[in-house]
Amino acid sequence: MRFILLTLLIFIQQVLFASNQPRIIPEPASIQYEAKSFTIGNKTLIAITDSAIRPIASLFSERVQSGTGIRIKTIQQNRSGKNQIRFIHEEALSEEAYELNISSKDIVIKYGSPAGAFYATQTLLQLFPTTVFGSAPTKVSHIKLPCVSVKDTPRFAYRGIMLDTGRHFMPVDFIKRYLDVLALCKINRFHWHLTEDQGWRIEIKKYPLLTEIGSKRARTVIGNWKDSIYDEIPHEGFYTQEDAREIVRYAAERFITVIPEIELPGHALAAIASYPELSCFPEKEYKVGERWGIFNEVFCPKPATFEFLKGVFDELFDIFPSEYYHIGGDECPKESWKSCAHCQQLIKDKGLKNEDELQSYFITEIEKYLNQHGKQIIGWDEILEGGLAPNATVMSWRGEAGGIAAASQKHQVIMSPNTYCYFDYSQLGGELDEYDFGRKRFLPLETVYHYEPYTEKLTEEQHQFIIGVQGNVWTEYMKTPERVAEQTFPRAFALSEVGWTLSANKNYDTFKTGVLQMFNRMSHWGMNYSQAFYEPIFYYDRRSSSYPKKLEIRIDLPNAELFYTTDGTEPSRQSTPYKKPLEVNKGDLIKTAAFVGEVQTGRTNIVNLN
Ligand code: ACM
Ligand code: ZN
Repeated sequence: MRFILLTLLIFIQQVLFASNQPRIIPEPASIQYEAKSFTIGNKTLIAITDSAIRPIASLFSERVQSGTGIRIKTIQQNRSGKNQIRFIHEEALSEEAYELNISSKDIVIKYGSPAGAFYATQTLLQLFPTTVFGSAPTKVSHIKLPCVSVKDTPRFAYRGIMLDTGRHFMPVDFIKRYLDVLALCKINRFHWHLTEDQGWRIEIKKYPLLTEIGSKRARTVIGNWKDSIYDEIPHEGFYTQEDAREIVRYAAERFITVIPEIELPGHALAAIASYPELSCFPEKEYKVGERWGIFNEVFCPKPATFEFLKGVFDELFDIFPSEYYHIGGDECPKESWKSCAHCQQLIKDKGLKNEDELQSYFITEIEKYLNQHGKQIIGWDEILEGGLAPNATVMSWRGEAGGIAAASQKHQVIMSPNTYCYFDYSQLGGELDEYDFGRKRFLPLETVYHYEPYTEKLTEEQHQFIIGVQGNVWTEYMKTPERVAEQTFPRAFALSEVGWTLSANKNYDTFKTGVLQMFNRMSHWGMNYSQAFYEPIFYYDRRSSSYPKKLEIRIDLPNAELFYTTDGTEPSRQSTPYKKPLEVNKGDLIKTAAFVGEVQTGRTNIVNLN
């Protein structure tokens, strides 16, 4: 019954929003709607002048055919003609910029480079009925598109999502579908976290044990890893070099650059379990990590390790054309180095002050090798400790402090502060969340949306070093693609707007209606997303232990009403309506439900203040 009601609700919303203008995510720099339409049908042609646009036209017409049954042919032609979608190169437009003009006669797309042409098609697809993302042709003879005039260009050059496939392996087919959705919202970097303590996931032909041993773990910790309860279920998986090439190719077709990450010197236990000679103490026994957190077993900076890492990168150079390579650099404990004779001698020989400087030496050696091969390194903000490698880009994750320090040193920065960009954090802030590192790590959609990467702690000139933003999907508590999708969407939509749209053009209410349309597209596409949008979200100070506290309850779904109880009973429309923030005390139990009309729009969320 609940399911039928929810389906009905979604249908009502579809009808409601279908009568509204389609909303584009991320919001374009400028968009004007006209009360006219262009009719697209089997006689519509795509006209291109540049063969580099042909694959973009093909992807577009394949999607249209799959979702509607309408076949659109592509022709190479300079002249204008009626009933055409014409791609025109425009020198003056910057690389990712485009213009899209839909009149009642034709559609004209102007682009500076193929990336812009691709983004124009992603905007155009969002102007279609959302069924265009389906795969069972609805076999319509024509579709009416609203006439619009769009001029668009991104705010930041780097708009990324990181997926951690180290903690849990994710299938190639899922990664491709994930890339489809990222491309639709104009994300242009896929940071692929390929190695971890708990699994090495990329085939290296020179070092076969990395996958024979390193891609498998015997079991995985359940719940809070400090409780040491294990599932006793083996987990394994790795990407062959052919798989990786296929993902790189698939991403490139969608103007997404795949940035591989090889974690060093820390988070390297799976590699060390495969080749113990890479550690400070080769005689010890190692096994692939089975719990989360940080391990003391890290790469030892000795010639054999550098030779190994160079061998790994040599094979990656052939697979990943990206200029940027991520080398990790985070959470590297120095315990092993402190008690290792080789490490201590190296510190003396190189005139280093301490183990932090040894880490900096390690990263700089790797940077030299990558620079020699035309690559630039990105590292997590710990690479600042002991001094930055000369050309490194810093990915700021422990808040913005690392980014601020790096920009002050005139290094490039990618802002990815955990407080705004960690999509493993909880979206609801209540009991509905699955285990999420203690529910203290709360990151609702609205907070992601309002992230502003230009911090006031940097000058305007220093802001130029911030090349973009990234959302991170750490998968300790995500065993399946469905969970990954649920944690990623819709927060990645919000992130895409942080990366693409100028602050002056952002509006959370507009965005939320766009999210509902995105959900419809995703439903047709078979991609999961979080139901948090339909559920009450609790906002309160999770860190302080002092009471009373202010508890605010919000919901993203437009026009939903909130009702709550404090006596443990299930809330209904007859319960107390939520009007303003509540004052709550330790031990209070608040149950909240949301309704549109008589229909509850999701699950009841519960907060237990104990
Ligand atoms: C990180 O979250 N350790 C980069
Ligand atoms: Zn050592």
